[in-house]
Amino acid sequence: MSLAIVHSRAQLGITAPPVAVEVHLGNGLPGLSMVGLPETAVRESKDRVRSALLTSRFEFPSRRITVNLAPADLPKYGGRFDLPIAVGILAASGQLPATMLDRFEFYGELALNGRLRGVRGILPSAQAAMRDGRAVILAAEDADEAALLIDAEVYAAERLLAVTAHLNGQQRLARAARTSPDATPADRLDLADVRGQQTAKRGLEIAAAGGHSVLLIGPPGTGKTMLASRLAGILPPLTDEEALETAAVHSVYDGWAASRGWRERPFRAPHHGASMAAVVGGGSHPRPGEISLAHHGVLFLDELPEFDRRVLESLREPVESGHIHISRAAQRISFPARFQLVAAMNPCPCGYLGDPAGRCRCSGEQVQRYRTRVSGPLLDRIDMHIQVPPVPHQLLRDTGGEEETSEQVQARVAAARGRQYRRQGALNRELRGGSLSDVCGLDADGQSLLDQAMGRLGLSARSYHRILRIARTIADLEARPTIASGHIAEAVGLRCLDRRMPNS
Ligand SMILES: Nc1ncnc2c1ncn2[C@@H]1O[C@H](COP(=O)(O)OP(=O)(O)OP(=O)(O)O)[C@@H](O)[C@H]1O
Ligand SMILES: [Mg+2]
Repeated sequence: MSLAIVHSRAQLGITAPPVAVEVHLGNGLPGLSMVGLPETAVRESKDRVRSALLTSRFEFPSRRITVNLAPADLPKYGGRFDLPIAVGILAASGQLPATMLDRFEFYGELALNGRLRGVRGILPSAQAAMRDGRAVILAAEDADEAALLIDAEVYAAERLLAVTAHLNGQQRLARAARTSPDATPADRLDLADVRGQQTAKRGLEIAAAGGHSVLLIGPPGTGKTMLASRLAGILPPLTDEEALETAAVHSVYDGWAASRGWRERPFRAPHHGASMAAVVGGGSHPRPGEISLAHHGVLFLDELPEFDRRVLESLREPVESGHIHISRAAQRISFPARFQLVAAMNPCPCGYLGDPAGRCRCSGEQVQRYRTRVSGPLLDRIDMHIQVPPVPHQLLRDTGGEEETSEQVQARVAAARGRQYRRQGALNRELRGGSLSDVCGLDADGQSLLDQAMGRLGLSARSYHRILRIARTIADLEARPTIASGHIAEAVGLRCLDRRMPNS
């Protein structure tokens, strides 16, 4: 036989469209040509494959070899096609039986000595292979990642020779089994480390319970960064389905790392100098950005006004829709990005606006300019604004163990989330239009308080709906079916920017 077809997959966003690797041996001048839109790393594959075949003591056919990666209009990146190309050449030249090839998909880069190297984006590929009813053969270093899929049939090999021995029936590869990926990292940050700040902690708990986005505002050194870094720790663990979606994003970014903990909510804190591509995603072979790596977890923007305005503006789409589209010349790629946003900022450039000792030296105009950097479309989409005032010194000195732990708060958050999912199948942050009015029933006192607040503070319709959603979450934390005036009052208090900034 002089034609072989081997199954593999490309990687496009977090999807893995099928690619048929067709290898044909013809008469003519010996050589290898590759067609089907391969980019540089794929074109270089022929040199790696040739060396790997020779060092593994196979014969490299001195025929005219054509390798076609179909469909041709799909871009192909990286070294993942080395293994399927090598297997295709062996099958087309009769050095390997072609009968079994249909049952498998192959992914892996080859070293010149025939060793197999791992590739990015294995999880979505293995998932798609499983759906198509094929087993997967890949590099040993990718085995743990593919075996996250309990039902996938995964065989991992160290070398090309181990793959051919498996296909020959000489020596079968062992099926990769899922190692227990549930370990929680020991160095988890605990809310109990933060002294005092009861109002801010309560706000964080409400935010976690309803999935609401939060902005923490306060002078330097009051614990804003500490508090925000502990938000992921009070969210309930990921469900299997969420964990799989999150792992898929990490898989195409830089490979899934077992050390991260399977059910651990991601926490991503990009630096304010980070580029648009790093935060939102992009590049010539589009990769997910921080907002997608934070999928189902927390995105923390510390020093919010220092971020590039364009970066902040580009967050509007994902904050609303839960995913991001990246357009490239030939295609439009989408990455999931359903994160919970927490941001922190000082009230003014020096940070001490409102300080009782009068340390602030900023002019009114400087303060205004500082705030307009974040005001507008993004600020309008942040659900809660919480003030984080300085902590009394004696509180920091105390070493008593009376602060609540993350575990205790997490239990209440999980219970409140459970109520929301049972009632409306989603978190309160998702409530819109009809379902918002359906589940946000107010008692008479609550309604009159809300009307008063609207009149007195001159709130927008957007603020009105946000206050309702937050009040609903507060009522859920207390397992109350209707929203009472106390819930409304607390919700209004959690939007301090609807009033004026502190002491401005
Ligand atoms: N409430 C607190 N309980 C315990 N330690 C605190 C508290 N607030 C501040 N600290 C201490 O002060 C340090 C600085 O806190 P953190 O970085 O969270 O402040 P910040 O509000 O983010 O300040 P900045 O505005 O300068 O970023 C912490 O590392 C911690 O040691
Ligand atoms: Mg800070």
